[in-house]
Amino acid sequence: MKNPWIDPDRLPPEEALSLAQFINGRSDIPDQRQAHSTLVDALSPQSGARLLDFGCGTGVIARRLAPLVGETGEVVGADISRVMLDFARSCGGPAHLRYEQSDGAPLPFPDDSFDGAAMARTLMHVDNPHETLVELRRVVRPGGRLAILECDWGTVALDHSDRALTRRILDWRTDTVDGNNWMGRQVVARCLAAGWASADAHVLVTVGRDATTTHFGSIRRAGDLARQNGVITQSEYDSWVGELDSRLTAGLFFASINEYIVVVRRGEDG
Ligand SMILES: C[S@@+](CC[C@H](N)C(=O)[O-])C[C@H]1O[C@@H](n2cnc3c(N)ncnc32)[C@H](O)[C@@H]1O
Repeated sequence: MKNPWIDPDRLPPEEALSLAQFINGRSDIPDQRQAHSTLVDALSPQSGARLLDFGCGTGVIARRLAPLVGETGEVVGADISRVMLDFARSCGGPAHLRYEQSDGAPLPFPDDSFDGAAMARTLMHVDNPHETLVELRRVVRPGGRLAILECDWGTVALDHSDRALTRRILDWRTDTVDGNNWMGRQVVARCLAAGWASADAHVLVTVGRDATTTHFGSIRRAGDLARQNGVITQSEYDSWVGELDSRLTAGLFFASINEYIVVVRRGEDG
């Protein structure tokens, strides 16, 4: 399946805008706010630091970083998509927060020009993750950090009475929809292969029990896509989604997913 996140500007304008609205709104969901806080804390932003948010989308991480580096610092949000960047700019921010269009190959910044970088839910979508990680290492100064947030759809635990159908839908979704859904478990190895010197990995298990979490919508959408793509029949869909809806109404919906926060460091010797 085509991944819309690879280059949102190639989509019809209303679809690209709805992706922007989706990620911007998602940042207000409590489990996502917590994931973003953990990512920002992992980067330990210092006053006066110059930081990059690569794959910044609508700027949800960049806007959190800007007050922490203060006016003597700078935050640059970079993204392949003009639509995302226009949305980010429309959200405002201080003068030391700016946005630049880049697909990361190469990054339009000199060597060693940032004290650190963040990258949230982007590595799984980029065309060439190895090149992206090598480029990020080039622009982060020796000793600087890169903090990465990625989820891993292979870790979804969903309660449902039809285990076989649930596995079929979730495995298909994991292997087919929206990029490399095993990126969460691959980040450490990929960073080390790209020359980053050391890596710490933390796991954040987010639990969805009602429609206010990110899980319900994305799991239901897996069913919608599986039906649209002929992976399940209409009657399988009706029974699978019907049970999810009933569980939601009865307070019995339960799903969890692992989100990985990986912090890597560039060696002091370059
Ligand atoms: C799922 S969104 C995440 C956005 C943001 N980091 C967040 O957490 O809300 C993925 C972002 O990666 C961007 N993207 C995809 N491929 C890219 C590339 N090669 N270079 C730069 N940005 C890219 C997309 O435009 C999109 O904004």
